[in-house]
Amino acid sequence: MLQVLRQRPRGWLALAPEIARTRTMSTTFQLDTATSRATPTPQPMRRLTVPKIRQRKKDGVTEQPLVMLTAYTARQAQLLDEHCDLLLVGDSLGQVIYGLPSTIPVTLDMMANHGAAVVRGSYHSVVIVDMPFGSYESSPQQAFESASQLLKISGAAGVKLEGGAAMAETVAFLTQRGIPVMGHVGLTPQAVNVLGGYAARGRSDAEADKIVSDARSLDEAGAFAIVVEGVVEPIAIDVTQAVGCPTIGIGASAQCDGQVLVCEDMLGMFERVPRFVKRYEEMADVISRAAATYAAEVRERSFPGEAQTYQPK
Ligand code: KIV
Repeated sequence: MLQVLRQRPRGWLALAPEIARTRTMSTTFQLDTATSRATPTPQPMRRLTVPKIRQRKKDGVTEQPLVMLTAYTARQAQLLDEHCDLLLVGDSLGQVIYGLPSTIPVTLDMMANHGAAVVRGSYHSVVIVDMPFGSYESSPQQAFESASQLLKISGAAGVKLEGGAAMAETVAFLTQRGIPVMGHVGLTPQAVNVLGGYAARGRSDAEADKIVSDARSLDEAGAFAIVVEGVVEPIAIDVTQAVGCPTIGIGASAQCDGQVLVCEDMLGMFERVPRFVKRYEEMADVISRAAATYAAEVRERSFPGEAQTYQPK
């Protein structure tokens, strides 16, 4: 496919038959140059939109729960896209991709570049990019500068930021200026140094009340959805009932309006995962077994075999 593209004359029309063949959702989807950042979808206007996501909750009820997974690369996005409503380019990429100890060191450049890869690899899901620590907290103006850069570079549809009432003014500022915002309450990993760890939140009455009122403030400020992370189940349910926009739970409750997991967690890429993660595969074992077989074949000179080597004509 890629070779065919290179031989053809430049221009969209000349490529049309080949591109048409790539337009079905498939795990063999090829990256082709027509699927550029400027036109991330080979099926124009078919991508879900933020208003459509917001409208999934009507009069406090979400008939069909929203499905969100994290994605950090184009290929990962291609594989997840058709199954999800939203792809989140989470700042969890700090730990998952870069091996950092927390999300604190993650930069705007990292988020923008991974966001662009995920937009290039998807054409159905709404792509949301996390605002990294330090890029939005000091003022609504700082948040607008950072968020607008993220959207310009990545082509994503909106941003997510952590924090409750303290961020309400910023959420309103961004939303009124064309930047959809997803909120994030409960366990907010960027505040790990204040919280003192990653334990579930909402166990005391004061903490529970604060989480519910934080979510209300974000909803009133115009957040189109709110991630509710690491809270005891009754609080997740209270939050879901208290706000008009959809809640997306992680370590929260099946009663939330949707769910999100870090993709690598649910794929079984890590030995240690939090209690709220369900492992749907054991990909770490699959990769380790493949690497062991490859290493053995290289060492015994059985790879490359006849099928993988070029011979003169
Ligand atoms: O960064 C992330 O992946 C997140 C999800 C866990 C919600 O914020």
